[in-house]
Amino acid sequence: MKLGYAILGIFLTGLVAGCERGSTESTAPDVAGHDPAHPPIDCPLAKAGVDASHLRPFEDVEKYIAFLERADRAVWQKPDEVVAALKLQGTETVFDLGAGSGYFSFRLARALPSGKVIAADTEPEMVRHLHHKILGDGLSNMEAALIQPGDPGIPEDADLVFVCDVLHHVTDRPTWLGKLVSEMKPGARLVLIEFKEGDLPEGPPESVKITRAQLVELVTRAGLALTTERVELLPYQTFLVFRKPG
Ligand SMILES: C[S@@+](CC[C@H](N)C(=O)[O-])C[C@H]1O[C@@H](n2cnc3c(N)ncnc32)[C@H](O)[C@@H]1O
Repeated sequence: MKLGYAILGIFLTGLVAGCERGSTESTAPDVAGHDPAHPPIDCPLAKAGVDASHLRPFEDVEKYIAFLERADRAVWQKPDEVVAALKLQGTETVFDLGAGSGYFSFRLARALPSGKVIAADTEPEMVRHLHHKILGDGLSNMEAALIQPGDPGIPEDADLVFVCDVLHHVTDRPTWLGKLVSEMKPGARLVLIEFKEGDLPEGPPESVKITRAQLVELVTRAGLALTTERVELLPYQTFLVFRKPG
């Protein structure tokens, strides 16, 4: 995981530097050849006014995507157990906030045959990857969205907001969580997964971790109530479920 945080650092630096595209990847979403039963979804970058031709070399992003998707992550991340722990009915709208490569989003989509997943991220390259994979897989119950670092952009119909390994990237957490909670509808749930403290084989540097007590304090102050904690579910991460009263 330490390697992954180095890759993320390079990735973000490159984005700030405004690198030019360096691969043969098409800049425009290629909707030709997709299953006509699943009409193309509007390009989320064009919708957000982002000119994809100024994004950074795609191969750097591919490295971070490969890191997030690496096979041995499943041993401790337990994605299927995590999705099962959400106890979804299959009809909900789930907002995967800071979805990255869609490690959880695509699994969530399978658990929502009559619902949908919105996979949102602040990085245009991640959103492009998500969008292309959604189109390539012909998924009609999933879409990608580009959001801003200071605005989680929760849709008003979201039943569940899923946030895995994202909060430690956020600088002004009280303001960000306050906005997130204000955008959630009454009764909606927030699922928060963050790395535990201690010298673990996975996770970000100790200096950026948020303790369980801090997580609960931050989220309850923002207005949600802690409803579930699965201490035994994940070996390296805290798994907390909150609900918005009402
Ligand atoms: C460690 S990755 C986790 C990705 C995914 N949730 C997973 O578990 O595989 C963190 C992601 O959070 C995104 N991110 C960082 N700051 C964010 C913010 N303020 N709002 C939303 N996403 C953010 C990054 O672009 C990155 O894709």
